[in-house]
Amino acid sequence: MTKDVIDRYGVMGYPVSHSRSPVIHRLFAQQTQQELQYELLQVSPSKLERAVLQFGRTGGKGLNITVPHKSEVTRLVGDMSERASNAGAVNTLVFRDDEIYGDNTDGVGLMRDLQDNLGLQLKEMNILILGAGGATRGIVSPLLEAEPESIVIANRTLSRATALADHFSANGPVSACRFKNIGTLPVYDLVINATSAGIKGDTPPYPEAAIHPKTVCYDLSYGLSPTPFSIWAAEQGAKRSVTGWGMLVEQAAESFFIWRGVRPDTAAVLKQLTTNIS
Ligand code: ATR
Repeated sequence: MTKDVIDRYGVMGYPVSHSRSPVIHRLFAQQTQQELQYELLQVSPSKLERAVLQFGRTGGKGLNITVPHKSEVTRLVGDMSERASNAGAVNTLVFRDDEIYGDNTDGVGLMRDLQDNLGLQLKEMNILILGAGGATRGIVSPLLEAEPESIVIANRTLSRATALADHFSANGPVSACRFKNIGTLPVYDLVINATSAGIKGDTPPYPEAAIHPKTVCYDLSYGLSPTPFSIWAAEQGAKRSVTGWGMLVEQAAESFFIWRGVRPDTAAVLKQLTTNIS
């Protein structure tokens, strides 16, 4: 007689203790009546390969991969989705019988939050992205698919913004500039903070010229209190200033769907997580 084994999942990062993924996936599992276990796995960069392979060898079904491993883990997958390949990063692993499959649900998570939860029509919008690191690389392709009028990537270090704009410009209207060269035209409909400044406790001189009374500001970061960027954006008179809780829940829901074939109700979980956050 075979013993019932509960399917194992987890999130691997360094550090990872702050991660909300275990709570979110447990709520999804309860809601969809799936029996599974989801662990928090703190793994340093030098131990990543061993830890991933070990998780799969011991029967693990899937992993979320978070900072700082999303790019490095692409080396360990046998096959990956087009969206992961475009992003140059993997945040979801599936342990198959014969190989490890990698996907990236961050982009679709952002798009679902912007379009479905916040009701934004991105077609013909002028979009400004602040920052040119891995987070930006992961969102440019899905944003371009929504056919905006333009995407400008602004970064403290111009060369990184230019490299990303060059990489994606075959797919749509993407350009690069420095923070200080952002003018008042075009009027940005959407400004996305994809820098890691807030997480590191820095408040860079975000460009005031980017904010117009019709601008919606979105911080990919989130926290138990408003993020420095979201506070700054509200102070500049942005129409709306939102943090990344919705993206977090939506990317998790897409991972859950990949693993379990069931789509959880994200609105209920988002509400549970953000009640009491102003
Ligand atoms: P990740 O891959 O996790 O996004 P990263 O590659 O280090 O991390 O990118 C972080 C982004 O935040 C970069 O665009 C970085 O700007 P630089 O390319 O000039 O380094 C930006 N960033 C981080 N701290 C910042 C700060 N204090 N002021 C302005 N930009 C900052």
